[in-house]
Amino acid sequence: MSEKQIFQPNAEFAKNANIGSMDEYNALQNKAIENYEGFWGDYAKEKLDWIEPFTNVLDESKAPFVKWFDGGKLNVSTQCIDRHLDTRKNKAAIIFEGDRGDVQTITYLDLYKNVNRFANLLKEDFGVQKGDRVVIYMPMIPEAAYAMLACARIGAIHSIVFGGFSSEALKDRIEDAEAKVVITADGAFRKEKPYMLKPVVDAAIDDNSPVKKVLVVERNHEEVTWNKGRDYSYNELIKNKSTHCEAEVMDSEDPLFLLYTSGSTGKPKGVQHNSAGYILWAQMTMEWVFDVKENDTYWCTADVGWITGHTYIVYGPLAMGATTVMFEGVITYPDAGRPWSMVENHRINQFYTAPTAIRVLHKMGENEPKKYDLSSLKVLGTVGEPIDPPAWKWYYEEVGGSKCAIVDTYWQTETGGHIISPLPGATPIKPACATLPLPGIIAEILDPATGEKAEVGETGYMCITRPWPSQIRGVWGDEERYVKSYYGDVTKDGKAVYFTGDGARYDEDGYITITGRTDDVINVSGHRMGTAEVEAAIKKHANVAEVAVVGKPHELKGEGIFAYIVLKSDDGVADEVAEMKAINSVIKKEIGNIAVCDDIVFAPGLPKTRSGKIMRRILRSIAKGEAITQDISTLEDPSVVAKIEAMVKG
Ligand code: WTA
Repeated sequence: MSEKQIFQPNAEFAKNANIGSMDEYNALQNKAIENYEGFWGDYAKEKLDWIEPFTNVLDESKAPFVKWFDGGKLNVSTQCIDRHLDTRKNKAAIIFEGDRGDVQTITYLDLYKNVNRFANLLKEDFGVQKGDRVVIYMPMIPEAAYAMLACARIGAIHSIVFGGFSSEALKDRIEDAEAKVVITADGAFRKEKPYMLKPVVDAAIDDNSPVKKVLVVERNHEEVTWNKGRDYSYNELIKNKSTHCEAEVMDSEDPLFLLYTSGSTGKPKGVQHNSAGYILWAQMTMEWVFDVKENDTYWCTADVGWITGHTYIVYGPLAMGATTVMFEGVITYPDAGRPWSMVENHRINQFYTAPTAIRVLHKMGENEPKKYDLSSLKVLGTVGEPIDPPAWKWYYEEVGGSKCAIVDTYWQTETGGHIISPLPGATPIKPACATLPLPGIIAEILDPATGEKAEVGETGYMCITRPWPSQIRGVWGDEERYVKSYYGDVTKDGKAVYFTGDGARYDEDGYITITGRTDDVINVSGHRMGTAEVEAAIKKHANVAEVAVVGKPHELKGEGIFAYIVLKSDDGVADEVAEMKAINSVIKKEIGNIAVCDDIVFAPGLPKTRSGKIMRRILRSIAKGEAITQDISTLEDPSVVAKIEAMVKG
């Protein structure tokens, strides 16, 4: 299968698809180009239930600080729950499958009651008010979704921290957001064994912490420490709460959540999403990209700790009234047939996962899909990193039976929802290609030097040249960083435009292929990681003088983490293995297991310019085993390059 091969949409599927042909796609996109505000204003009126209508579609007067649907009032939790009660109260909103195979079906009416109780608990027992920040550090259990929606209901701003982050990472995020409450669980189950989260929370909160109260969902019922006056059991407090909590009336531009993500420099930034624009696009992309129908069952394998879990497990599916599957466990446990057995059992229609998962499932269980009835599948999705053609082929043929479209959805934490993706009933797809901007998204690959559109085949910068409803509204507490991070690199027609940080190129059909990050962000198993963060963690190790971290292609993870470390003691390393272990345990403590290095080289020095700048490009080439093409004669010490090369090869 070559990259040139084209797969037409399944004609049977296209007949009933929400967007069923390229003509329809082009008509929508032309409408958006001709009358941008009309396009978005019409959808906002049609798709959302407004308490008070908006008076202005888009206010760009303070760009890049933009306002969408100003004057409008609504509540995101009622968009996701209350408005479905007339027609769908007994429909499954969430189907939860636990690690050990325990299944729980939560109807829209159940969801309503659980979220309202949760909201009342936060208000009455914890004093949480509109605008307060609440950190959620949870496993993949329904209560994580209730917590998010309960915050939305009372106007609190949630900030979810992925359960794989360490106490130090959690502490940083709590402090940056000045959260006063943490919602967590004792722990959960993984591979049929209990694991713990509460002790991580305990270690993240000291006397100076802004956190005054911790709510603990008892999921695995293992013993935890209860800090009197601070820690409370959800299972106890929830018992006598009323199942009705009046939803807070929110402005379109009131913040909905923060989600910390890595950038190329400094500490992670709190990406802020606001209410109306975010929920509108979450819903529309569910309808367009996954083409979810009333009786469908949709499953996204992400974790709620990442943006994919926010938009495509909780907010998007529930806003459109779909049935969303939530899974606590590990997709390769008890074997690599687990997802396919779940597809068969729950009759899953849309399945959405990351390329890294596809590669692992392919490698560990090439023939597993054959053992299950996967005939319910209609749409397959991927997200998080470029997918390689072999993984794509297996996914298409073995999982999708060569009849399902693969939607290679390109987007980021900052975009809130998909921006470039095939439409399953319309777009002829090419393997491993994100294809075209979605209707309403004005995205272009630009030459950063000139601001002109990149030529076919040339790699340029993936930019979005008009504001869009679900875009990042700011970096929490740092207006300047928002402007600098996203609107500092590319100017088109004299105007700064949003730059994603990714490179991309057009092919002869105008299709977009994402080539990967152009900055110092790497993508490890679909997790976004700043090399600067990993370096900062490694520097905490007492014996480290200097460090440079780069990404290196990795068969399963996409990218692995490669660290070049110069130690303080110049008499070499007595025990390399012990030293590597020590360094990785510092990383585990500072960030978490997800940032552990795949390769560590103890280098005699780092390639630096005479002004002291580390030449990462050289280090990237060495890690990949590529020949060095850069001029190294201007380095402070050119001989260091050959020495490092020899060590890596050796
Ligand atoms: C990468 C995840 C290629 C990209 C939703 C982006 C992709 C970063 C794709 C965002 C894709 C995401 N093809 N690369 N389909 N989807 N990326 O914020 O580098 O965790 O900038 O959001 O993942 O990662 P984030």
